[in-house]
Amino acid sequence: MEPFVYRDGRLFAEGVDLATVAEAVGTPFYCYSHGHLSAQAEGFDGAFGELPHLTCFSVKACSNLAILALMARRGLGFDIVSGGELARCLAAGADPTKIVYSGVGKSAAEMRQALEAGIRCFNVESPGELDLLDRVAGKLGVRAPVALRVNPDVDPQTHPYISTGLKENKFGISHREAVAEYRRAAAMANIDVVGVDCHIGSQLTTVQPFLDALDRLLALVERLGEAGVAVRHLDLGGGLGIRYDNEAPPTPAEYAGALVERIAPTGLTLILEPGRVLVGNGGCFVTRVLYTKGNEGKRFVIVDGGMNDLVRPALYGAYQEILPVAAHRSRPNRIVDVVGPICETGDFLARSRELPVVRPGELLAVMSAGAYGFSMASTYNTRPRVAEVMVRGDRYHVIRERETVASLMAGEQIPEGV
Ligand code: LLP
Repeated sequence: MEPFVYRDGRLFAEGVDLATVAEAVGTPFYCYSHGHLSAQAEGFDGAFGELPHLTCFSVKACSNLAILALMARRGLGFDIVSGGELARCLAAGADPTKIVYSGVGKSAAEMRQALEAGIRCFNVESPGELDLLDRVAGKLGVRAPVALRVNPDVDPQTHPYISTGLKENKFGISHREAVAEYRRAAAMANIDVVGVDCHIGSQLTTVQPFLDALDRLLALVERLGEAGVAVRHLDLGGGLGIRYDNEAPPTPAEYAGALVERIAPTGLTLILEPGRVLVGNGGCFVTRVLYTKGNEGKRFVIVDGGMNDLVRPALYGAYQEILPVAAHRSRPNRIVDVVGPICETGDFLARSRELPVVRPGELLAVMSAGAYGFSMASTYNTRPRVAEVMVRGDRYHVIRERETVASLMAGEQIPEGV
């Protein structure tokens, strides 16, 4: 479903005018479409059909409890990278046996928390982590289910900051050392080897790198079998891209079709860790124009949302479409920079963008902001994090209240005589 569409020149989220939400909750805010998120979750998971599989939503993409609950109720599991994300999943009603735990820097306390919760699998990223997990599990008197995250050394052809499967990246264990490390794991007293894992990068717009990684992992599973180490699942990570501008990523059906064909004959359970594709296009970020000005021929639209609220354009030079919430046909287009109030030159939402003329007080919607939007927000410049709203049909719910300056300062202390 199309989550955000114009009706009579006004931008709606499902059946709700975004301007109405702005009046009620103030700006800036994130808005998600319940219908779109549900359809993406069901469509992605359903695309794998009868193949034994588990779709684990990657919590880091968008970690609001309401969104996690929506995913959990549709049968999805979760891919987490911290004890905090684990706590969120449990609070949202997740089934712990559908949670996989990735990340290069798990602490002993986080391992304990996850073992006590009874998660499905640890995606272990280094020999040192494996040793620690064995010890922590031993102390608790349990066995830790483990997959090793193998670095398949394939080029996902995406932005270098979000490419993770090349040998120069910090992630995973080299596929050359994998068999030896698996042998070591299999011999450990408190480790159960259950799977193999990789994640090669994010915002991939072709299927081929996934197939290359899958082939490498399947070859590894074979070598493991020869070495007497049996695994039950193969986790291919996340990474399927979305359309921000004019990309044409494979649909979940095309992606699933290609994977199922190769994996079905092996009898392995397939685990996937999609983030962006489930939520990216189901959210937008709404901000209000404060001022417009021109400096030496350059035009700026200064808005109340900044890089602390939505960092992707500033951090990756990412393109996200910007739409006026009220479209005026008579307005001419201008080339502008859309910038925020933060004291950094890098604080922009768009550069040299052609937009219809906008005036102070008007609203702009930054599209495709559902993934890595709010979840990457900070409070830099003592800016409280914004509200999050979920629209369902012609109703909306505030799923996270706007923070207050008081809540930001809570916990700070001024020592006597400072
Ligand atoms: N699994 C693992 C182990 C990951 O590290 C990630 C994302 C995912 C799954 C989900 O990937 P997705 O399906 O969302 O592509 N902040 C960046 C993206 C960073 C991705 C980090 N890892 C951005 O805004 O583009």
